[in-house]
Amino acid sequence: MMNQISIAVIGSCNIDVVVEAPKRPLAGETILGSRLIIAQGGKGANQAVAAARLGAKVYMVGCVGDDDYGRSVLKNFEANGVNSDYVKTVEGVTTGTAHITLAEGDNSIIVIKGANDLVTPALIDEAWPQIAKCDMVMLQHEIPAETIAYALKKCREAGVKALLNPAPVLEGAKEWAQDTAFVTPNEHEAQALFPGKSTEQILLENEGRLLMTLGSKGVAYAENGVINTVPAFKVEAVDTTGAGDTFNSAFAVAKASGKNMSESITFANAAAALSVQKIGAQGGMPYLDEVEGMLSECRK
Ligand code: ATP
Ligand code: RIB
Repeated sequence: MMNQISIAVIGSCNIDVVVEAPKRPLAGETILGSRLIIAQGGKGANQAVAAARLGAKVYMVGCVGDDDYGRSVLKNFEANGVNSDYVKTVEGVTTGTAHITLAEGDNSIIVIKGANDLVTPALIDEAWPQIAKCDMVMLQHEIPAETIAYALKKCREAGVKALLNPAPVLEGAKEWAQDTAFVTPNEHEAQALFPGKSTEQILLENEGRLLMTLGSKGVAYAENGVINTVPAFKVEAVDTTGAGDTFNSAFAVAKASGKNMSESITFANAAAALSVQKIGAQGGMPYLDEVEGMLSECRK
């Protein structure tokens, strides 16, 4: 059992409106889907829940609307042991929603930010006494750019370790991603962050701090001038929504607990592989004993 570590997540809370369909409709086309699922989501909330299930003490900083979706987000935090003292309910706006199509073995997502757009630098200041005490601070790109830049600057100045998951692609990210302890783009996000550079250059120039997630191929990172790939676990994927979020939180928990890069990535790959086997971003997010069980099975 790892020591309990503390994590602050500054980010989005969404309700995911998911439709399963045999294909994506073309422009102007109507098709029949097979299923509608309304589920908890949002990169921030997903990462908070994933870290809490893996045993961390988690403090969420974000905003929801004064509506049923917002109330269900808060209930979900409570059910998962996530502290929501710094999740503000804002009147007159809707809770963030993500409109997800699951088709042809992959997802496509449109996010309506709603209350997530009201996560301001002032909220960071309010939560700062708690954030500053945490072992790791996690951020993503579904809140205003100004707030991300502000929070990362504060972390840097105070010597607080931060992990930035630069998803979805957001203009200006290069500037604030630079001095962040850990950055975790997928291949597409890495190209947006470092335009014109090869994958090898990106990894080698950001040795020890950049992890490139490669979906079912695993994760690449550089150490001692060498590029390593830690392969993903081979599993039957049902829904990969939230795989990146589970990976990020599991990596943060493992790294903050003192594991080295390769151990932390293996732990995070196992957690993410468990997460893709169930529907919904949070549906398959594992608990610590499930990840440890999977890793000990693999060692046999
Ligand atoms: P998201 O769709 O959540 O935004 P992402 O693009 O940020 O995902 P990916 O690179 O797709 O992130 O996946 C993150 C990690 O999840 C991978 O590095 C891998 O460990 C795990 N993973 C993703 N897909 C699979 C899969 N099909 N089988 C096993 N593991 C997977
Ligand atoms: O990373 C997955 C998440 O991205 C979904 O839960 C959805 O809310 C979108 O924000």
